[in-house]
Order: sequence, then C-alpha cells, then structure tokens
Amino acid sequence: MKSIQELESTYIINTYNRQPGMTPCLVRGEGSYVWDDSGKKYLDFLGGLAVNVVGHCHPAVVEAIREQAGLLIHTSNLYYGGPQAELAEVLVENTMPGGKVFFANSGAEANEAAIKLARKNKADRYKIITAESSFHGRTLATVTATGQPKYQKPFAPVVEGFSYGIFNDLDSFNNLVDDQTAAIMIEPIQGEGGVYVAEDSFMKGLRSLCDREGVLLIFDEVQCGMGRTGELWAFEHYGVMPDLLTAAKGLGGGLPIGAMLAREPYRDVLQPGDHASTFGGNPVVCRAALAVLRILLRQGFLKEVAEKGACLRQDLENMIATYPALGCEYRGMGLISALGLKKPEAKNIQAKCTAEGLLINAIGEHTLRFLPPLTISRSELEDGLKTIRRILDEFNA
Ligand SMILES: Cc1ncc(COP(=O)(O)O)c(C=O)c1O
Repeated sequence: MKSIQELESTYIINTYNRQPGMTPCLVRGEGSYVWDDSGKKYLDFLGGLAVNVVGHCHPAVVEAIREQAGLLIHTSNLYYGGPQAELAEVLVENTMPGGKVFFANSGAEANEAAIKLARKNKADRYKIITAESSFHGRTLATVTATGQPKYQKPFAPVVEGFSYGIFNDLDSFNNLVDDQTAAIMIEPIQGEGGVYVAEDSFMKGLRSLCDREGVLLIFDEVQCGMGRTGELWAFEHYGVMPDLLTAAKGLGGGLPIGAMLAREPYRDVLQPGDHASTFGGNPVVCRAALAVLRILLRQGFLKEVAEKGACLRQDLENMIATYPALGCEYRGMGLISALGLKKPEAKNIQAKCTAEGLLINAIGEHTLRFLPPLTISRSELEDGLKTIRRILDEFNA
C-alpha cells in the first residue's frame, strides 16, 4: 500500500511544500489538540491558520453539521434556504445593522465580491488601492490586490487598476487617490504580511479620506475578524465602520465560507445577475457558521479572548526580555500575535516546536505567528508557551 506521502507526491500538485518526514499527517482533532497518524498529540497554536476559532470538532458545530446534513445538504441558490437567511441576520445585526451580505466560499471570493461591488458602484471609478505587504487571496484579482510582488510575478499581466500605499502611512494613500479610485482595501491587522496592526490615526484617516473623495473603504477581516482580537471585528477597536467588510476563515468553524457585507447605501449595488456562487451560502456550512457565531456572541466569551490575548502578550514580552539576542518585538492584538525575531531562526524554531508537539507558524525567517483557537484554556496557553520558552532557550545560545 502506498503511503499518504507517496500518494500525495504522485497525485497532488505541489503548491504547499509539505515535507515527508517533517510535516505531520493530521487525522483527528479535539478542542485545542490534533493527532497525527502515528497517534502523536499536538497542541495547536496555529488553529488551521485562524480557522478553528472554536477549536477542533466543537460539539455544537459537529451537531449543527450532523443535523443539517441529515436534512438537506445542498440546493441551488435559485431557491430560498433557511440557514443562509438565519446566518445573514446574525452576521449583519452584529456587524453593520442595516446592511446586507453576499455569501461565497473563501476569503479570496469574499474579496472578489467586494472588488466587483466597488467597481460597479460608480461606473467611472475602477481603481483599488491596497497596502504593501497585504494579503487578500490568490485569485487573479485578489492576488493583484495582495501587495506582495512575489505572489503576482509568475501570473503577469495581473488585473488592471491596482496600486499600493504604505501600511500606516496615510499620506501614501492620499497621494494615490484620484477621481477614478473606487475603493481602498486594507486589513486592520496584516496577517500574512507579518502581523502588523493598523494605527488608530491611520484607520480614522482612511475613513475621512474615503468620505472626502467618495471612495469605498473595505476592511478585509478574513484573518483578524471573528473574535480574534477580543471584539467580533478588529474595526470595533478603532470605532471606524467600513463600507464593505469581508470575512471567511473562522466563520465556518472549519467548513468553507466567505462573506462580503455591505452597509447602507451600498447594500443593493449588486443586483440579480451581477454576481453568484453555486455553493455560496450552502445550508450545512451556514448552520456550522451559526453555531460558531452563537458561541462567540455568548456573554463574556470575547472578554475572555481579550484576557487570554493579554496573557499571551505578557508572556511573549517576557521572552523578548529574557532572550534579547533572539526576540525583538511583540506584534498583534488578542489572539493574533507574533514574535518578531532578530535572528533568522523562525523556520527552525517552528520545526523544533512541531517535533515537540506544538504547532506554530513561521512567516519568513523573522516572524513566529500565533493563532490559537479562541477557546484555548489558560493552562493550554501556558503549556504551549512553556514549550516555546524551552526551545528559545536553545536558540538563544
Ligand atoms: C486577510 C486575508 N484575506 C484573504 C485571504 C484569502 O482567504 P482564502 O485562502 O480563504 O481565499 C487570507 C488568507 O490567508 C487572508 O489572510
């Protein structure tokens, strides 16, 4: 019998660079833990890259999926469907009352919908400004929105009309706006770019700039949203409401979903025939998302996230003080956090953590990223941090 690794290298296009012998083959999950095919247990500080916000196989999510799968798995979006409408109500009322939502299947698709809405909004405006080092997806338009040339280069020519300001530099955005600008799109916290948090004055300044110039403000909260910062959405920390908001990742509790929310007066820009998705708003996925949102919206849940985030920050800052040669800065908010490293050791530290049963993520060689489930307990958090401390000890030498 061929091993999983052999099957994969024979039949799967190698875009993820999984390494035989190094990359675990994960087969089961429960709460903050996953297990590989040899039975080894890992504490998950990566949370499916910000997807598993309520941990692995949360009973409420499993039950919602089971129940809906026995009732109706899919119908066409040509028909009404219950879970989609229920999810829309909870999502809109807790995000931008008076708005509406379009359901897609991923973060990139949610952003595609936002880009299309922004371009349709005013016929003579088609340009979109995003930030350098941003990440908005891998489809052709969203990879163009992604302000990282390395992702675009092999696929040139990319989509027309995109330009890039410098994150947290309002003037650089100001200078790019003209009378053909349709939208400015940014992540309030740049995730893939290395966990960089937008400054308050930058967010407020973007809102004023967009209001003054008749430009839509789009926040991509695919990674930093869904409770990760201790509020349901990162924008709540700034008191700055976007015109369009995109979400995905954590929303489906592990099932694929994307959502693009549009506030009044943009909620009806897209009309029948303008946009569609075969699977968008699938009943099973929407039931899972409803279960996730109900957990996040429980009294005290998000406050807990903020408190656990503060513990994580304190611990990482202590590590920076303990290992001055290695750690140089803390970045993040709540449970989207990073340890910036002076030494180019992030990938080696990640590999060592994996070997010791802790899943974390290296972004390049200088950043360790932490995206644990929001349901992680304080003792699990402490356990993982202990492992990291022990490993940093070795690398500090
Ligand atoms: C901020 C942000 N936007 C969009 C995306 C793309 O999401 P997806 O991979 O679901 O298309 C990501 C993925 O990492 C992301 O972090």
